[in-house]
Amino acid sequence: MSKPKVYVTRMIPEPGLALLREHCLVAVNDRDRPLAREELLANVRDAEGVIGQLTDKIDAGFFDAAARLKGYANYAVGYDNIDVAEASRRRLPVSNTPDVLTRATAELAWALLFAVARRIVETDAVMRSGAWPGWGPLQFLGLDVSGKTLGILGPGRIGQAMALMSQGFAMTVLYHGGSKPALAIEEKLGARRVDFDTLLAESDFISIHAPLTPASRRLFGAEAFAKMKRTAVIVNTSRGPVIDEAALAVALREKTIAGAGLDVYEFEPKMAEGLRELQNVVVTPHIGSATRSTRDNMALLAARNLLAMLRGDTPPTCLNPEVLGKK
Ligand code: GLV
Ligand code: GLV
Repeated sequence: MSKPKVYVTRMIPEPGLALLREHCLVAVNDRDRPLAREELLANVRDAEGVIGQLTDKIDAGFFDAAARLKGYANYAVGYDNIDVAEASRRRLPVSNTPDVLTRATAELAWALLFAVARRIVETDAVMRSGAWPGWGPLQFLGLDVSGKTLGILGPGRIGQAMALMSQGFAMTVLYHGGSKPALAIEEKLGARRVDFDTLLAESDFISIHAPLTPASRRLFGAEAFAKMKRTAVIVNTSRGPVIDEAALAVALREKTIAGAGLDVYEFEPKMAEGLRELQNVVVTPHIGSATRSTRDNMALLAARNLLAMLRGDTPPTCLNPEVLGKK
């Protein structure tokens, strides 16, 4: 039997590619940039399996172009780039990469939280510029973290990991969202499930871990910022469009809230006007899962998912396993 053809839309870590090559003929986009839509559609024409990125739109047009497709594996946990309902209508399994990036992403959220609270980036720049005059009692005063209230929007795997990591800082934990109570953090931390307005009003730090859906799109806008404490900090490592970024720039400039740590943007790779001039925002380029071992594990998981799909088995982390059961 000839090996199935697989297309990978961006170079991913070698362990995943090596596993794929054992069983498949693998073609990879080895240019270090996302493919334009026409390139993507042309390159998947004879592929039976595709591993793609959050920058690839996996929709009806993609499935039409990839007429021989047996399954699609996302190299990301977020899957707002995939029309899962359309895949299911076509009885095509699709998968994401949960779990393997949970701790790395929660760790980045903490890094941003502390960087904002203690003004790490702003003060690093002062040191580099040579302008530091020496120690001073009123210099660069920041925000306490220990004993404060942490609000988690979206108590999924990553949101709960973020919450659990707060234990060392003796924080009060509130959370909002999720279809059922987050028992692990309720039991271990006494975390309290609250409505959105309570989360806004009571949190000193809000960390966003919700998937991008119609309900979460622009959930944080001028109205939400006005309900937050003036001393509050917001951190986003999920998807940019959960925040109305122009409204955030205004809220930060006018000190409606104290600060923000952002890893994701409403219109990536662009950043809203006005943000770059502000000292009270720390910005990173969508690196939540960007550690060597996490990316290796994402590549392996995406490859395992795709190999299972090509065999007609249920992939380890399938988003629509019901399409396989009924085949
Ligand atoms: C990255 O944003 C991911 O969803 O894995
Ligand atoms: C999903 O996005 C998660 O929290 O792992």
